[in-house]
Amino acid sequence: MRVDPYERAWMILTGLILAVLLAALGVSVYGMGIQLPGDVGQVDPQAVAASAPFDRPGLREVGPKEYEAVLRASAWQFLPGEIRVPAGSRVTFVLTSTDVIHGFRIKGTTVNTMVVPGEISRVSYTFTEPGEYPFYCHEYCGIGHHTMAGRVTVE
Ligand code: CUA
Repeated sequence: MRVDPYERAWMILTGLILAVLLAALGVSVYGMGIQLPGDVGQVDPQAVAASAPFDRPGLREVGPKEYEAVLRASAWQFLPGEIRVPAGSRVTFVLTSTDVIHGFRIKGTTVNTMVVPGEISRVSYTFTEPGEYPFYCHEYCGIGHHTMAGRVTVE
């Protein structure tokens, strides 16, 4: 089959662009640890405070240098608002909202997820460097949205 040289050039260019985009996707997922949200679970938004694990918000050690941080987001605070872990810890954040849609972003990390009522969000990160990692709500959730923040302290 004869292919026009111009058409061949565009076919090659299209293939190259596709290859570059797929490589960028691969690097962001496997190289930079960016996680896509999945179906982690559901919780009755009316009964968050009575539903495990959200009945006991806070930090739990689940293994050597492995922690689980359970957070409740509500207008306009995260509970708990402060988390302390030793350097080198891998922390899995488990969140839900008790009212409206919130966001959860930890500055200087790849942690960035929506926090939706009725849905459970789960995202992990390894804190290798000691320091202060502020987190905040990045989804407009009302008049107090800008005050909805907290921090992870890595010691
Ligand atoms: Cu919660 Cu903005």
